[in-house]
Amino acid sequence: MTAILERQSQAGNLLSTMRTLRKIVRNPMEAWPEAVYREPMVVSHMLGRKTVFICAPDLIQQVLVDDSESFVKAESMRRSLEPGLGQGILTAEGNRWRLQRRVAAPVFRPAHVNSFLPAMLRASRDMRDRWAELPSGAAIDVSQQMTRVTFEIILETMLSGAGDADLGKLEVSIRDFLESSSWATALSAIGAPLWTPFPGKRRSERACAFLKQAVGDRISERRRTGERREDLLSLMLDAKDPETGDGLNDIDIRDNILTFIGAGHETTALALTWTFYLLARHPEIERRILDEVEQVTGGDPLRPEQVAELVYTRQVVQEAMRVFPPVAMVVRQSVRDLQLGGERVAAGDNVFVPIYAVHHHSALWPDPDRFDPDRFLPEAVKGRHRWSYLPFGAGPRICIGMGFALLEAVAILATLLPSVRLSAEPSFVPTPKLRVTMRPAEGMPMRVERRAA
Ligand code: HEM
Repeated sequence: MTAILERQSQAGNLLSTMRTLRKIVRNPMEAWPEAVYREPMVVSHMLGRKTVFICAPDLIQQVLVDDSESFVKAESMRRSLEPGLGQGILTAEGNRWRLQRRVAAPVFRPAHVNSFLPAMLRASRDMRDRWAELPSGAAIDVSQQMTRVTFEIILETMLSGAGDADLGKLEVSIRDFLESSSWATALSAIGAPLWTPFPGKRRSERACAFLKQAVGDRISERRRTGERREDLLSLMLDAKDPETGDGLNDIDIRDNILTFIGAGHETTALALTWTFYLLARHPEIERRILDEVEQVTGGDPLRPEQVAELVYTRQVVQEAMRVFPPVAMVVRQSVRDLQLGGERVAAGDNVFVPIYAVHHHSALWPDPDRFDPDRFLPEAVKGRHRWSYLPFGAGPRICIGMGFALLEAVAILATLLPSVRLSAEPSFVPTPKLRVTMRPAEGMPMRVERRAA
């Protein structure tokens, strides 16, 4: 009798593991406990491993900022990204991470980021001109279009002069690689060995090989010609470890360039995709952006130094990233036993910061599902805990490209909106789906019309 019960319970466990695994592969957000939208902290046992979800800003501050040394990025994340990005800045830990962050930092200082604005505006105007040639009411997938424009920008600013490389193939390869990440994450969660096959694994491996080769070739070419440009690659080629005086080797440089290309375009593209969707549903907010752009530019083409004056447009992007954060979750693993909000966390336990749930938390945001850019007026921001909003993460591992992304999103939006109106079918409701990033599962089908001059 006992044996039968045990077998039944084993079968039950297996079924529940399979169900959870399926959810993680399909859309990890479906595996989150409901209480993450109401409670400060939720402890769950997913796939036999203790997982602590933290939603209260002070706990988030403890894990990501004040006590960040007690946590590393989770093994599942490293396992899904390392095949493509190696031990670049996003996945590395300790001294290896610190050196890479120091080397990349100058590229992301405000003055340097501002110098990228002409490239950002040029790519936005090219997109606007391509849209202007479409018949009025043409159907487009805004998510694909935004990925294209942000990809052109990231390539030009991180690896300039790569425009003659096969743009389409590079883009598809990055997508194929990121697509496989949910499987790698799910398999790591159940402790499956690295060689375990999964759908799309071969395609992903081919994509990684192509990306490494393409970027590796660029690096060799720059070393050979000695050419220097105003981009991340030149900075990395010149970088020296302040302690040892060593430079970065070509593999480290390649992994970082791929990391910046991977981390730095789809995220911003999604921020814009969700913004366009929300604006189509809120014409009164779109009107306020148009008025602001008109007032700042006087109807002339937007100039680089004017982008910072588009304060309301920036608030709209910030609020869109609250409602639909492009990175919906960050995950850490504790490296020692510690106390977190009265709960004992052991070394090896997972700590999840479910950014999407924090941004929709009933104790943090009044009427959380309402789209209201006035939440980002300076007085409103001052009135709430800093870490109730964290689309770019927090602490030492906060997104290095935060300033770049905001400037880029505002520049693209303010270039496109005065020329075109985008509309979505009234019945269309996108489903947010988490891969590494949070995308609309159906893409973002919209119609594009020229605005009357
Ligand atoms: C709206 C756009 C973006 C969003 C929402 C976003 C979000 C994030 C988040 C949440 C993290 C922290 C991950 C963690 O703590 O585990 C991160 C890290 C990072 N992001 Fe972004 N990001 C965006 C744009 C960019 C851009 C434009 C770049 C580069 C040009 C970039 C490069 C990076 C890098 C290299 C890291 C790793 C930093 C480190 O670990 O030191 N991101 N990003």
